[in-house]
Amino acid sequence: MKIVLAADHGGFLLKEIIKEKLLQSGRAVVDVGCDSVDSVDYPDYAEKAVSAIVTGACDRGILVCGTGIGMSIAANRHRNIRAANCFDVATAILSREHNNANILCLGARVLDTDNALQMVMTWLDTEFSGGRHQQRVAKFSA
Ligand code: RB5
Repeated sequence: MKIVLAADHGGFLLKEIIKEKLLQSGRAVVDVGCDSVDSVDYPDYAEKAVSAIVTGACDRGILVCGTGIGMSIAANRHRNIRAANCFDVATAILSREHNNANILCLGARVLDTDNALQMVMTWLDTEFSGGRHQQRVAKFSA
């Protein structure tokens, strides 16, 4: 599984921490920026991550901004993207099991770092449940 990472200035530091954790655990990561805490516009970085997924270059994405809200709004404008702004391990798991989320959005200014890292690792390892959820998720792209 190849994972694309993106952040704006508000999420940059947490993105770097997540990247380190993923690389340490042997995951394949593509970082599309940003590259510092200098102010940028989150839709530009959401777009880069979305492109990586819809072209098939990457399988899943993790997007970080101050709250996770802007990144999730931007990413969800694409019909084949299911971006979930989650707050704890439970919502991260459900976003995979029920919604087949292909992007996890995180708010660096509202999440504890350890919680965010636990969410990331659990989210990556959680499978979609399918079944009754499949017909619902299919309607996003219909
Ligand atoms: C940037 O200041 C902030 O607005 C952004 O990171 C994010 O929280 C938007 O939803």
